[in-house]
Amino acid sequence: MKIAPSILSANFANLLEDIKKVEKGADLLHIDVMDGHFVPNITIGPVVVKSLRKFSSLPFDVHLMIENPDLYIEDFANSGADNITVHQEACLHLHRTIQKIKGYGIKAGVSLNPATPLETIKYVLQDVDMVLIMTVNPGFGGQKFIDTMFKKIEDLRLLRENLGLKFEIEVDGGINLSNVAELVKAGADIIVAGSAIFESQNPMETIERFKEAVRK
Ligand code: DX5
Ligand code: ZN
Repeated sequence: MKIAPSILSANFANLLEDIKKVEKGADLLHIDVMDGHFVPNITIGPVVVKSLRKFSSLPFDVHLMIENPDLYIEDFANSGADNITVHQEACLHLHRTIQKIKGYGIKAGVSLNPATPLETIKYVLQDVDMVLIMTVNPGFGGQKFIDTMFKKIEDLRLLRENLGLKFEIEVDGGINLSNVAELVKAGADIIVAGSAIFESQNPMETIERFKEAVRK
């Protein structure tokens, strides 16, 4: 299992300081980009990603919750993103968008909102490096995990097996120490956690506890 702390719950006035707190335990740094249209919240853009790039060696996992992602893929790729994930719901020509991301030599992911069926991405699964299953409705940190998503993750894992594919399954939203083990059992390879990590007393120790919970 890989851990990807989401900086959405970090202190934006001291972002780098918070990133340093997780740098040694995290496998990826999850960066939530929101435009106020696709989701009702606004966060950060490529300039922030570019500034952070100089100070962190973690792979940057950029989650685009924006309309017209095609317009911004180049900017995020050039800012230092290692993975770019777009939402199926925001892409009219999803296959083309995925190829565009891969054209920059980085990993491409596709994300699904809780209500969006797996069938909608069936014919691009062979083209992606990861699938991000949203386990809350995107837009905010600190929301409650949607229980029916366990089944969706399991279904995706079985679909991957049946198709003989190797993409990673990432899960995002409402994840904490009490549900992480069950999520990994269902099929999650990458765990995104924002509030559970950055709002804890000791983020590094919390990451260790996540890993321990999965080992048990
Ligand atoms: C939600 C974002 C998440 C968010 C998760 O739209 O995509 O990455 O930071 O936050 P928690 O872990 O607090 O639910
Ligand atoms: Zn996210």
